[in-house]
Amino acid sequence: MTDSPQSRFRINGSAAVITGGAGLLGYHHARAIMSAGGIPLLLDINENQAREKAKLLSDTFSGECYGYYADITDKKNVQEICSQLTDQFGSLDILINNAANDPKVTDKPGEKPWSRFEQFPEMVWDRDVAVALKGSFLCSQVFGSEMATRRKGVILNIASDLGIIAPDQRIYRKEGISDDMQPVKPVTYSVVKHGIIGLTRYLATYWADKGIRVNALSPGGVYNGQPPEFVQKLTNLIPMGRMADADEYQCAVIFLVTDASSYMTGSVLSIDGGRTCW
Ligand SMILES: NC(=O)c1ccc[n+]([C@@H]2O[C@H](COP(=O)([O-])OP(=O)(O)OC[C@H]3O[C@@H](n4cnc5c(N)ncnc54)[C@H](O)[C@@H]3O)[C@@H](O)[C@H]2O)c1
Repeated sequence: MTDSPQSRFRINGSAAVITGGAGLLGYHHARAIMSAGGIPLLLDINENQAREKAKLLSDTFSGECYGYYADITDKKNVQEICSQLTDQFGSLDILINNAANDPKVTDKPGEKPWSRFEQFPEMVWDRDVAVALKGSFLCSQVFGSEMATRRKGVILNIASDLGIIAPDQRIYRKEGISDDMQPVKPVTYSVVKHGIIGLTRYLATYWADKGIRVNALSPGGVYNGQPPEFVQKLTNLIPMGRMADADEYQCAVIFLVTDASSYMTGSVLSIDGGRTCW
């Protein structure tokens, strides 16, 4: 490659599918895509919010961005939206597997917390695994296979610091409650986030000779109105002494989806204020 380093951070006109695009970070991934010259396509079960955020992004940053309904746990639905978007935008070269559930650690006072492993509901397991793992598998299969036939594409999987380390359950503890009544970070979050790193490495090697790069971004926790005492306990675990602002992953997204990272595949980029060093 003889082009300038700056020009490698561009994806002029490329359409980028972002699952869970209506959520908190989906907006910022979309902003990153737009600022690199791409067209974000926000897929979400929350169609209204996907459309509203797409409109907000288009209006604010004077570029193209679109929102669509898609349930990524349903293969037929993923196939339909893939063919609709391919007809509309031509080739789809970027997929960001971003959607996941993050069940909040809250319980009704006096009730045995549902989040504890011993009674963790099978239904929640199935639901969380369906969105984050099956959904990423199906989207990679449908969109990625199409990229493989064209020998061009980038898949970015959104993992988490909790895809690398175990949750420190002490930060979820409540005063004056016995040990067996303490709420915990649900097991599914750890499992799906470790799992998506496995999917990243599997696909990176599987499709390396088909011109598809597959990497994971592993973000730390983002400020989003959490109670101050929780923020304090969490930031005590972070060498930089703070959580992330929601826009602090945008530059990494641009790097990972453009030719700026052309020799990178199967990697996990941790951006977590140093949390996973400790
Ligand atoms: N926010 C953080 O602090 C943080 C930290 C580390 C990692 N992450 C990861 O980043 C990603 C985005 O997080 P977020 O905070 O924006 O989450 P969010 O809950 O705000 O957004 C998730 C989106 O996924 C959508 N969704 C759920 N099920 C779906 C389905 N079946 N089909 C399509 N869409 C579906 C939801 O409607 C929602 O809009 C997640 O993978 C999360 O685990 C977030």
